[in-house]
Amino acid sequence: MKKYKIGWLPGDGIGVEVCDAARKVLDAVGFNAEYIHGDIGWEFWRTEGDAFPQRTIELFRNMDAAVFGAITSKPASSAEAELALELKGKGLVYRSPIVRMRQLFDLYVCLRPCKAYPGNPMNFKEGIDLVVFRENTEGLYCGVEFYPVPKEVADVLLKYSKNFAPFAGLPLDEYAISCKINSRKGSERIIRAAFEYAVKHGYPKVTVAHKANVVRATEGLFLETAKQLAKEYKKTVDDVNMHDINMEDANIDALCMWLAMKPKNYGVIVATNLFGDIASDLCAGLVGGLGFACSANISDKFAVFEPTHGSAPKHAGENKVNPIATILAAKMMLEWLGETEMAVAIERAVAKVIADGQVRTYDMIPAGDNQKPATTTDMANTVIEALQ
Ligand code: NAI
Ligand code: MG
Repeated sequence: MKKYKIGWLPGDGIGVEVCDAARKVLDAVGFNAEYIHGDIGWEFWRTEGDAFPQRTIELFRNMDAAVFGAITSKPASSAEAELALELKGKGLVYRSPIVRMRQLFDLYVCLRPCKAYPGNPMNFKEGIDLVVFRENTEGLYCGVEFYPVPKEVADVLLKYSKNFAPFAGLPLDEYAISCKINSRKGSERIIRAAFEYAVKHGYPKVTVAHKANVVRATEGLFLETAKQLAKEYKKTVDDVNMHDINMEDANIDALCMWLAMKPKNYGVIVATNLFGDIASDLCAGLVGGLGFACSANISDKFAVFEPTHGSAPKHAGENKVNPIATILAAKMMLEWLGETEMAVAIERAVAKVIADGQVRTYDMIPAGDNQKPATTTDMANTVIEALQ
């Protein structure tokens, strides 16, 4: 078997513990890899003024894929306050390394499956199988933001949009601007990825979540692009060989309600960056929470796999949190690398451990049940035993 080069970026807090757990499982399943550690996270912001140092970015050039744990991000005031003395006052600006990573490496697909594994007492309902495709490089997370607002920017906005008038008279530090920018290309490639996934995995429809009725420019472009593209996936009477995937569209707010009420009506969902981020956490909540939510950030040639959750500082170092999200992220990596057998083996093992219910981390135990919570390490070891 090929020896892969895998970037290993545990980051901060529980990121370290869940990555250790996933690594043990990868070793146990026989994945042949050289792991290359990359520095990333809050510590490097504090001591070097860069949470995603250039040397880590360089490492990415030689990797087949990477696993990322989680990082701690804090508001601008704490970011400046916690900087090492010699770095203070230099105008350094903190930006989330994972958002930068997605943009730098054009990881435009954020793929977030949320599956209710049978027997998980935290499932909202059995049989839920949702996959959120979140646009990962643009939209409201594009990083084009102003505070305080430069006067030139304010003048131009007033000239071109009458809706800007209520803000125009305000002092420039009394309001802030975050731009939402969506391109046709950016919309098309994420929507296409969602349709292709539906074809490959046998989902009958793709739900396009949007807010085109209010956020007319960017969300309108996204919806219009989806409608165009959907035609390619629709079977016509005389073209029997074409796929037959339906497209439906829904306002993101209404969809959130329907997801809570009738989650089994949905499968593949695609949305712009912020809406996809929020919808995917909602979906995670339907299948047991962040301890089960895995995700992949994918470009045309590279991919980074991570749990959806953050660094959960309050649980850091307690060997307490659920590593299943990260173990399933590792499984997604194997799938993406084409190591299907190992991927299937890991998912089967996780499903078996969940169904058995003998070993459960704290987040898997319903209120009032006095089962003793398992540690992060216990969970990893139990998954490994179930591999056999
Ligand atoms: P979080 O996801 O770190 O934790 C929220 C809560 O969810 C935890 O307190 C815990 O109760 C639960 N939880 C999370 N992961 C769990 C697991 N594996 N098993 C069991 N329970 C789990 O979100 P929070 O508290 O909003 O953010 C903490 C830090 O993480 C912040 O600095 C935030 O910026 C950062 N963050 C980083 C992300 C990333 O690296 N991709 C994503 C989200 C937040
Ligand atoms: Mg999120």
